[in-house]
Amino acid sequence: MASSRPRVRVLALLLMVLACVGQWSYGVEGWGADGHHATCLLAEVTSPKPATVDAVRSLLPDYANGSLASLCTWADDIRWQYKWHWTSALHFIDTPDFLCRYNYDNDCHNSYGDVDMCVSGAIYNYTSQLTSYRNSAHSISDPAMLEATARDQYNLTEALLFLAHFVGDVHQPLHVGFTSDAGGNTILVHWYRRKYNLHHIWDNEIINKAKTYYYNSNLQDMIDAIFTNITGDWVEQAKVWGECANDDISCPDIYATESINLACKWAYKNATPGSTLSDDYFFSRLPIVQQRLAQGGVRLAAILNRIFSPSKL
Ligand SMILES: *[C@@H]1O[C@H](CO)[C@@H](O)[C@H](O)[C@H]1NC(C)=O
Ligand SMILES: *[C@@H]1O[C@H](CO)[C@@H](O)[C@H](O)[C@H]1NC(C)=O
Ligand SMILES: *[C@@H]1O[C@H](CO)[C@@H](O)[C@H](O)[C@H]1NC(C)=O
Ligand SMILES: *[C@@H]1O[C@H](CO)[C@@H](O)[C@H](O)[C@H]1NC(C)=O
Repeated sequence: MASSRPRVRVLALLLMVLACVGQWSYGVEGWGADGHHATCLLAEVTSPKPATVDAVRSLLPDYANGSLASLCTWADDIRWQYKWHWTSALHFIDTPDFLCRYNYDNDCHNSYGDVDMCVSGAIYNYTSQLTSYRNSAHSISDPAMLEATARDQYNLTEALLFLAHFVGDVHQPLHVGFTSDAGGNTILVHWYRRKYNLHHIWDNEIINKAKTYYYNSNLQDMIDAIFTNITGDWVEQAKVWGECANDDISCPDIYATESINLACKWAYKNATPGSTLSDDYFFSRLPIVQQRLAQGGVRLAAILNRIFSPSKL
């Protein structure tokens, strides 16, 4: 007994350290893996046109086996590597404290002040890279040459994986949050009996709780329920969600503006540091989370169709 105790203590300490590391690293990711998986899966089943399916398949690496959802968290997986550190700023937008408004020119930059380096700028960027692939696809008939031309300039596999991920992120309300609390990352609250930062609750815990409470811990069942709404109760709204004005292929500023509005109205509201969030908060915020996952999926699908299967060329 006596000799095993130190080992128990070391193990306990190790678990605590792991728990902390987990909490912090999750804190700055986008939606957690489940939220991204849901967004990409919903996009894959929401009326993809045949040319879109073909193009996505041809850009995905073989090991993805044709599944965009399987690589929807790629942008989070790589951002910790040195060569990808610069991409961290592309997952979010910091807006002025308490203003509850977002403005591309003022807010879309990284912490060094480099313009366009935010989630909205990244969505424009990777949309336009993929559109160049489409345009070359129609002017060059030799597939080998086409691939070579597009690849010379950008890695379009990366462009696709970034786009799919960032369209998810921009729909998480606290990814367009206030600057001084880093989108809720520095606001520590109690979530039922546990302690998390507010950002993590929106990335992961509302979805986790919904999964166990309503869906027997089965994410696919929750995604199916959202999809049933997209094709049922929400079908008229979903058509509007997918649209952009002025023939734009993607319109991330609209998604970002919605997010900061929802962040003020729902995420920050009643979530002051040290407060306890439980049933009241969960039941009133879950519909927002589910609608944002639906909008992310519908819009990603619409963007990919506009890129790869444009109606007029
Ligand atoms: C790849 O996809 C095919 C068809 O969608 C499926 O039958 C097969 O089991 C998948 N393989 C793996 C390794 O997931
Ligand atoms: C656009 O994509 C290229 C290639 O990944 C990258 O070097 C550049 O920083 C990106 N800019 C933005 C705003 O995402
Ligand atoms: C494109 O990017 C992917 C993911 O980073 C990488 O695995 C692949 O080798 C790259 N392709 C080229 C041609 O550089
Ligand atoms: C489906 O839509 C109904 C009606 O708007 C809503 O009450 C319900 O929460 C939605 N469920 C999901 C999983 O989105």
